[in-house]
Amino acid sequence: MRIVYLNGAYIPENEASVSIFDRGFLMADGVYEVTSILGGKLIDFEGHALRLQRSLDALDMRNPITSEDLLEVHRELVRLNEIDEGMIYLQITRGAPGDRDFVFPDPETTEPTIVLFTQSKPGLANSPAAQKGMKVISIEDIRWGRRDIKTVQLLYPSMGKMMAKKAGADDAWMIEDGFVTEGTSNNAYIVKGNKIITRALSHDILHGITRAAVLRFAQEAQMEVEERNFTIDEAKEADEAFITSASTFVMPVVEIDGVPLGAGVPGRVAPRLREIYLEESMKAAI
Ligand code: PDD
Repeated sequence: MRIVYLNGAYIPENEASVSIFDRGFLMADGVYEVTSILGGKLIDFEGHALRLQRSLDALDMRNPITSEDLLEVHRELVRLNEIDEGMIYLQITRGAPGDRDFVFPDPETTEPTIVLFTQSKPGLANSPAAQKGMKVISIEDIRWGRRDIKTVQLLYPSMGKMMAKKAGADDAWMIEDGFVTEGTSNNAYIVKGNKIITRALSHDILHGITRAAVLRFAQEAQMEVEERNFTIDEAKEADEAFITSASTFVMPVVEIDGVPLGAGVPGRVAPRLREIYLEESMKAAI
């Protein structure tokens, strides 16, 4: 049984409950972060804490915890649950005002709700999926216009994942106005020669913490990075493709809409970037 964190208390998961009036439950009025754990340490914690604050600011939501205390809670949950490899999920909502109303509650009287829990995933770094690569399908991107805010409105991404599963694939890349935005829960990249191409940051995509690190490492390794839009047809003709996220790190994509990329197996660039990312981020883990 896991020990989870709810509004200041470390309690068994089956004793943790949240009001039916919580705005996270009624309105998806909440934000979240997922931080990975390798060797019992937190990967890219600072980036996740900074993005959390940006999401809260964008929604005019109060942050109920300082970043020092947030780090302490993450570490304590890793310790209490003896996590070696896995993730920590964090969610903050606008709280439970005691009724349903479209108007935001007064932040003076309604405390935000904060929940954190661990997910143990032994073998996360040495995942067999990374050796094999993944298959994606393309679907239309019908999400809202502020995808840079990490909100808990995940119904469409979840539906996209189901469409992929139904089609015998692993994930879906979403397309808006002819261009790939991102994966259901990851950023999307293609590789042409020695050049890594990924959509530039805007309101259209989540500003991935893994993305920032991977692009930095790629440039340090003398790989060329081009931040621009690409179409799904360009992706199908690319030498390689991959995704990044806190839970998958760097994962090669070997098939798009049934079309194999190159030889249909992971190429040179994505596995190398995965290696560099894992090595460097574990060195910097806290
Ligand atoms: N998802 N784009 C979307 C839509 C995402 O949901 C995520 C992360 C990313 C990658 O961001 P980062 O590198 O900071 O994890 C991009 C998390 C892992 C999730 O929902 O589980």
